[in-house]
Amino acid sequence: MTNITLTIIKPDAVKDGHTGAIIDQIIKAGFSVKAMKLKHLSEAEAGKFYEVHKERPFYNDLVKYMSSGPVVPMVLEKADAITGFRTLIGATNPANADEGTIRKNFGKSIESNAIHGSDSDDNAKIEASFFFAGTDIY
Ligand code: CMP
Repeated sequence: MTNITLTIIKPDAVKDGHTGAIIDQIIKAGFSVKAMKLKHLSEAEAGKFYEVHKERPFYNDLVKYMSSGPVVPMVLEKADAITGFRTLIGATNPANADEGTIRKNFGKSIESNAIHGSDSDDNAKIEASFFFAGTDIY
């Protein structure tokens, strides 16, 4: 599967009622939703998802934050999905994100930055299979 990316609408954005507006922005940018659900991650699950950041100083806080409430993971499809989606969401820190990007519109801080996007085709596949069985991706 190329041309796919895995996104997660993060707990604050869901809690604050931004899920619909964020999905609208994603669809208007030309992505199709191939899989979607609402899920409350346990700390163990959030820790596993972000295992690559295990040694980083922000890891424990990130795991607590990502398990603090339901999130909305989605598999998205579009030509050149990884790069296109990272442009749409903007810089990791919303303070540095371009105007009109999802993180600029809805992010609060580098941790509560509203949305995740895969950083490579290989990670998109790994992250999609973390949340979805192959038969749940359309
Ligand atoms: P995300 O794209 O989901 O990938 C890792 C996350 O770690 C990142 O978004 C941020 O929300 C979070 N994070 C928290 N603190 C930092 C930091 N200092 N540098 C980078 N990422 C951070």
